[in-house]
Formats: sequence, structure tokens, C-alpha cells
Amino acid sequence: SAKKIAVLIGSLRKESLNRKFAHELIALAPATLEFEVVEIGDLALYNQDLDDAGAPPAAWTAFRDKLARVDGVLFVTPEYNRAMPASIKNAIDVGSRPWGKSIWDGKAAGVVTVSPGAVGGFGANHNVRQSLVALNVATMPAPEAYIGSAEKLLGEDGKVSNDQTRQVLTKFITAFAAWVGKNAPSA
Ligand code: FNR
Repeated sequence: SAKKIAVLIGSLRKESLNRKFAHELIALAPATLEFEVVEIGDLALYNQDLDDAGAPPAAWTAFRDKLARVDGVLFVTPEYNRAMPASIKNAIDVGSRPWGKSIWDGKAAGVVTVSPGAVGGFGANHNVRQSLVALNVATMPAPEAYIGSAEKLLGEDGKVSNDQTRQVLTKFITAFAAWVGKNAPSA
């Protein structure tokens, strides 16, 4: 049966390049993967008092429940000031608690960074990987995906406009499917 993948997008704006690339990756993926974009913009900033009181916000619980059910997670994120955006870090933190109940443990993951800049969000990409190491997530090492000059790779319709980029994305998401097949908890 298909492996379930949660897609976390690190930009909250409507015309996000990252959201467009996330949908292109989903479109190019093999049928062995089944995707759900899980929205993270309404997760309150992590505050342990709310867990300790036994009254976590409903959005935290819904997020944790969704993530607990997937085999893998695909991060598609911009770089903010050479690191991951707060939205992604907060989602990682919310999923990691209460202590001993982390939804991350043993999952498979992939990281894609997308930027209009030339460097393609390298800093953010490795910053996400740093937290995932601590959470025992099997993050696919390669192929790496630092997508620079991103707005030049999309057409007016928001879809990838050239074959070379399409090939790069296809190669990444095909490798990711194989990685999840080998490393997901239910594998
Ligand atoms: C940015 N941007 C940016 N780009 C980059 O390559 N490296 C960086 O360190 C930063 N820093 C940064 C900080 C903040 C607060 C913002 C809002 C933006 C630019 C960023 O890549 C650009 O706005 C992208 O278009 C954001 O991704 P989405 O929203 O298009 O998906």
C-alpha cells in the first residue's frame, strides 16, 4: 500500500514559491506515495505549560494526530535569515512534545529548500536537518535539493517551466519514495 507523506511548507504567504514547488513535487511523485499538505500556520508557539496542564491547543493535538499517522515527512521551506522559518521550527517543537511522545521518532524525511536567491536556502536546509538528527528522524542525505533562482523556474501558471528542473524534481522525489520505502516505521 502507498506510504503516507505529510508535506510541511515553511511559508505562509499565498503566492509562496515553496508552496508551488511542493505541489510540483507531489505531481511528479511515484504512485507509491500519498501526500497530505499539513498546514502549520495556526499552531500556537510552543509553551510547555499548556501540555503540563493537560490542555494543549486543539491545533497542536490535530497536528500531532496527523503526523503520528504518516510514514514520512517532506519539508519544503524558504530560508529566513540563514535558518529555517519560525513556522517550521515551531511545528518541529510541537511535534516533539510532550517528552516521550514525540511524533518524530523513527520517521523518514526529506528536505527541500526554495529561494529566489542563488544559494537555494542551504542554511535553512541544514538547519532543519540539525533538529531532525536530535529527533531520530531518518532524513534522506542525497540527492540534496537547494532550489535557487526559483521564480525563474516557474511559468505564469505557477508550474515548472523547463525540463531540466522537472528532471531534478523527479529525481529527488523518486529517490525520496525509495528512501521512505526503506526507512519508514511500517517498512
Ligand atoms: C527572506 N529571504 C531569504 N532568502 C534567502 O535565500 N536567504 C535568507 O536568509 C533569507 N532571509 C529572509 C528573511 C525573511 C524574514 C524573509 C521574509 C525572507 C527571502 C525569501 O527567500 C523569499 O522571500 C522567498 O520568496 C520566501 O519563500 P516563499 O514565501 O516564496 O515560499
